[in-house]
Amino acid sequence: MTLPKIMSIIGTRPEAIKMAPLIRALRETGGVQEVLCLTAQHREMLDQVLSLFNLTAHYDLDIMKERQSLTYITTRALEGLEEIIRQEQPQLILVQGDTTTTLAGSLAAFYHKIPLGHVEAGLRTGDKYAPFPEEINRRLNSVLADLHFAPTVVARDNLLREGVAEGKVFVTGNTVIDALKTTVRPDYSFPDPLLQNVDFQACRVLLVEAHRRENLGSPLEEICRALLDILQAFTDTLLIFPVHKNPAVRSTVYKYLQGHPRALLLEPLDPLSFHNLMARSYLILTDSGGIQEEAPSLGKPVLVLRELTERPEALKAGTALLAGTGRKSIVQKASALLQDTDAYNAMARAANPYGDGRASERIRDIILHFFGLRSTLPEPFAPHED
Ligand code: UD1
Ligand code: UDP
Repeated sequence: MTLPKIMSIIGTRPEAIKMAPLIRALRETGGVQEVLCLTAQHREMLDQVLSLFNLTAHYDLDIMKERQSLTYITTRALEGLEEIIRQEQPQLILVQGDTTTTLAGSLAAFYHKIPLGHVEAGLRTGDKYAPFPEEINRRLNSVLADLHFAPTVVARDNLLREGVAEGKVFVTGNTVIDALKTTVRPDYSFPDPLLQNVDFQACRVLLVEAHRRENLGSPLEEICRALLDILQAFTDTLLIFPVHKNPAVRSTVYKYLQGHPRALLLEPLDPLSFHNLMARSYLILTDSGGIQEEAPSLGKPVLVLRELTERPEALKAGTALLAGTGRKSIVQKASALLQDTDAYNAMARAANPYGDGRASERIRDIILHFFGLRSTLPEPFAPHED
């Protein structure tokens, strides 16, 4: 009997972090063949994750170029995937999240009439342009997918409202929490000497990461001005900002923050360093999706540097706040937390609305069930209420 072949298509840092535990679970499971295909929409930031999780790919389209357009990524990925899919003839294609690689992978699966599984399905803001282009990538994926792995009940309900059949939606938790469970250690020592020298007891670390396309330009400038105001008002704070490789992010961040004695601008960190840095930080300010999901599990308050979020669970749990991208609003929200210990402590509670570390196991079992290799479906993910 030929074993069912499952091809995962990934291209960026968050897809690699969130697919690594699932790919590992599939590789360790007898009864299926696993094939990993990279578009390499990201290069260094993707390789950093793959090397940390010891994942080798079977195919690498290596498409990244500086300041690439959405059209460029979509067309190059689609063209490259055609030949690989024709050659491999997988029985299932897996994509994750909402990037342009995700959309190209979903379309490629459709063009070859291959069933599609979408990991992290059902996230919505309801605004076509926020986040851009991810909101529409997600909605298109949901039209194309056959198996929808919704991380939470909120995400599942979004899909059901859009008419996706109930039997095709599975609440699994988010695989990002599976990854996080393997990285954070109390005795971790940072390889970077700059981080080794940080005294996390003597100062309050503000960890920042911002890179979204809709924040490039003036919103990111406003964010940087707000960060300078916060550093000036709170002299016991140290800003640590691992800056995304996107040149449009780097030019703004370096222009405003480089040279400040209490701003540490770093290259993107591998997830092991980054997760352990999150665990030692006082407050996190970010427009990143994945970081919003990880921080509650570590009991770290997050100020979300966006006008809208597709991840309302942490807002509801009280561990994240929408700060927007306006200078005044960010400074006001950060100051409230930095000067009021009760307000800070109320947010600094560990909560796990996004996962329990077993999402990959559930998704693997649902896939095995899809191929008739398992008779029962796993229990859905249900977060513990406080
Ligand atoms: C992409 C995703 C976004 C995700 C983000 C994660 C899309 C449209 N956007 O955005 O959803 O949140 O990844 O980080 O899919 N670059 C490098 N080296 C790298 C990575 C990027 O030099 O390893 C530079 C290149 O000049 C590239 C630019 O960054 O052209 C932008 O990369 P791109 O993947 O187009 O968009 P992101 O903003 O990274
Ligand atoms: N991350 C990382 N190193 C960094 C910054 C972030 O490993 O320097 C991780 C972070 O822990 C999370 C993921 O990258 O798991 C989020 O990816 P990103 O912010 O690039 O994309 P998004 O989640 O916004 O799509």
